[in-house]
Amino acid sequence: MIWHFNIVDMTVEVRLHKNFKERMFFANQAYQKLNALQELSMDITGKDLETKKVQTILEEVISIFSGDKAAMMLAEGDYLYFAGLNGVDNTESSGKIPIGEGISGKVFESKEPILVADLSKDPKFNERELEKFYHRSFMSVPLKVKGKLLGVLNVHSKVPNVFNEEDLQIFSTFAVQTATAIVNNRLFFELQQSENRLKLTNNELEQTLLELKKTQNQLVHSEKMASLGQLVAGVAHEINNPANYISNGIEEISDNLGRLKETIYQIRPQGERGDKFISLFSEVLSTKNDLLPLLQEGSQRLKEIVRALRNFSRHDEAPVKNVDLHEGIDSTLAILQEKFNSIRVLKEYGELPPVSCKPAEINQVVMNICSNAAYAMNQLTARMPVFKISTSKNKDSVVLEFSDNGEGIPKKDQEKIFDPFFTTKDIGDGTGLGLSISYQIIKDHDGDLRFESNSNGTKFMIELPV
Ligand SMILES: Nc1ncnc2c1ncn2[C@@H]1O[C@H](COP(=O)(O)OP(=O)(O)O)[C@@H](O)[C@H]1O
Ligand SMILES: [Mg+2]
Repeated sequence: MIWHFNIVDMTVEVRLHKNFKERMFFANQAYQKLNALQELSMDITGKDLETKKVQTILEEVISIFSGDKAAMMLAEGDYLYFAGLNGVDNTESSGKIPIGEGISGKVFESKEPILVADLSKDPKFNERELEKFYHRSFMSVPLKVKGKLLGVLNVHSKVPNVFNEEDLQIFSTFAVQTATAIVNNRLFFELQQSENRLKLTNNELEQTLLELKKTQNQLVHSEKMASLGQLVAGVAHEINNPANYISNGIEEISDNLGRLKETIYQIRPQGERGDKFISLFSEVLSTKNDLLPLLQEGSQRLKEIVRALRNFSRHDEAPVKNVDLHEGIDSTLAILQEKFNSIRVLKEYGELPPVSCKPAEINQVVMNICSNAAYAMNQLTARMPVFKISTSKNKDSVVLEFSDNGEGIPKKDQEKIFDPFFTTKDIGDGTGLGLSISYQIIKDHDGDLRFESNSNGTKFMIELPV
């Protein structure tokens, strides 16, 4: 009995042992499958989900579950489309499948995974579906994460009973990871897109800022020009009338004095008292005569200044005009006369045709170049300041050159002098706007503003088309 018992016992033990070994073997297999899939889904998490990657996933799914074919379908509107299809047999359509139709459509709709061990023995599938569906066993699991349904993942085999419940569980777990990866991937893509949009907006903003700065400069320039022009024109007008009275008055006084002299000589009293009177009168008269030419000269100068101011502002003229540029230069120098008091000015004017331009603006450029030059030369201690202005005509342009013998512009500053607000002068002496505005003005005239500079001096050249 005992022996018999033992045998039974042994048999049970052996059976149990065999069972245990089998279970261990399957558990180990399942673990390995899960591990492989885990690694695979890590690989796609957060990165771009290209077709190549989808193909890799499907290949791995086929190899891990020993299937023949795998497919990933993603939802778009009312349809599922093939994001990837991998396997030996591609006879099935790879077009769109309406949600709710076909196995994948049903799995998507029900959100429940399906395992079919043998299609031909499964009562859920009718003849029609069997005809269409040439595989014998398959698993189809929804791709969902946190309640969000993205699509379906399928694996098929021509051989029946290839997949079991354990496989379905592993496949479902993998589907969650894949869905997470897809969502991450979409988020990543959206993030990238919004980053690109941000970059674009940033560029636009920078561009706008640049334009704003330019406009601001132009505004400052036109504002300054407008008010300066108005001021100058107003002053010129106000001075013009009294200057005319004075010059007319001086002529009249001079005439009157002449007549007075004649009359006095005619009615000159006789005798010693008469001689004394005449000599006194002559003396007074000669002082007056010395004074008169001075007065005349002063009044002439006044008239010139008025003319220069008017010429400079050109307030009463159309903005674009054919002008004599020499006149503009002379007027500008007359206005800046005080700054050029101790500077020798040499003019080498060539033959220039009338140039079509905005004279008020060109005068402003000349004024700025000349006052910069005067400023540089007034700092000189070691040599006598000399300023040379030469003009010439080329084939289809005119060139105005302004050369000073100041100490020049240091190399490191040379690329900055046309920048708005770049100045080396003290506050109050310079705004740093002169050359940037000048550059803009000359560019607006389709011309060119250049310079050369070294420690012996600086030469600015204005070239204007004719
Ligand atoms: N002829 C020149 N000689 C030396 N430096 C010059 C000369 N012209 C311009 N510069 C330099 O260029 C700078 C910018 O000139 P500008 O734009 O006219 O502004 P600002 O005269 O108000 O300083 C000056 O501060 C000066 O450093
Ligand atoms: Mg200046």
